[in-house]
Amino acid sequence: MTPDPAIEARGVRRVFESRKGFLFTEKSRTEALRGVDLRVEPGEIFGLLGPNGAGKTTFTKILSTLLLPTSGEARVLGIDVARNPQAVRPRIGLVLGGERGLYNRISARENLRYFADLFGLPPALRDRRIQEVLDRVGLTEAADRRVEEYSRGMKQKLHLARGILHRPELLFLDEPTIGLDPKSARETRKLIRSLVSDGVTIFLTTHYMFEAEELCQRLAILSKGQIVARDTVAGLRRLVGGDTTVEVEAYGFEDAEIERLRHLPGVGRILSEEFGPRLRLTLRSSSSELTAGAVRSALGTAHPDLMVRERRTVLEDVYLDLVEEEAA
Ligand SMILES: Nc1ncnc2c1ncn2[C@@H]1O[C@H](COP(=O)(O)OP(=O)(O)OP(=O)(O)O)[C@@H](O)[C@H]1O
Ligand SMILES: [Mg+2]
Repeated sequence: MTPDPAIEARGVRRVFESRKGFLFTEKSRTEALRGVDLRVEPGEIFGLLGPNGAGKTTFTKILSTLLLPTSGEARVLGIDVARNPQAVRPRIGLVLGGERGLYNRISARENLRYFADLFGLPPALRDRRIQEVLDRVGLTEAADRRVEEYSRGMKQKLHLARGILHRPELLFLDEPTIGLDPKSARETRKLIRSLVSDGVTIFLTTHYMFEAEELCQRLAILSKGQIVARDTVAGLRRLVGGDTTVEVEAYGFEDAEIERLRHLPGVGRILSEEFGPRLRLTLRSSSSELTAGAVRSALGTAHPDLMVRERRTVLEDVYLDLVEEEAA
């Protein structure tokens, strides 16, 4: 028997309706999710990317039983989140971050004791487990200080500690490294990887493309409540036309020149963007034969001010291509 997928969503929609304006007579309606299908396998790190307001947090909240879908179905660890949330909750962890959800007047250790009791951790194991997670997130030294004295990053670490306290099988992380300094962010990514080697499945959202590229086996891009792409990083690169990117910049190009560039090895799409008086063309190619040199010789000597840069296509390129295409 194959194991249940860690997450399986089918046609998940969520509409927010509220009243606003004078005497609350105006109705506002936001369709945050417009039919999302997604499957995450046990043991993987799955990343959900998307612009502000795309619906990432809404989707994360539905999967973690904080919100109900308006329609559609979502199963987590094989259990329907709308029908049987109580069975889901003890097996998942959720880190939403932010200022809410922590008790400021007491210490981190006391916060964790409170949550451990809520999670029903046996008292004999409780304090040892708390020390373990404090070590793991790097809060041991500050563990007995009141949370109101904590910096934003320290609070983020405490959220993370709370999220893993009860050893969840599946952990939802909504922008886990937001507000962390580079060293803490790196330690957090290391922690995420070590959780995965312990067998935990991770579902994370992030705005940091390098983070998604470094951590995630598979990714989905959400835009305006719909998934616009879903693949491995390599698959997404192919989707936008390949591994190689060459940027060419000058004070304008003739149509005939752009045509010549279009016929270079493996060139799929060419994007153009204005930078003040200059024009930048971005060429994506599936061929390693597309080099800066090849571009220079195709253009000849017409542009004394020519700038050519060859690099590997990174996830940020893919993301911008896909999200902009969607916007167009
Ligand atoms: N409680 C709510 N009431 C009304 N509208 C809401 C509510 N929560 C979210 N929305 C709306 O749903 C849409 C999706 O919001 P969501 O927070 O899921 O986006 P997001 O992808 O997490 O964005 P960000 O990257 O900024 O965190 C937005 O238009 C938002 O205004
Ligand atoms: Mg969000």
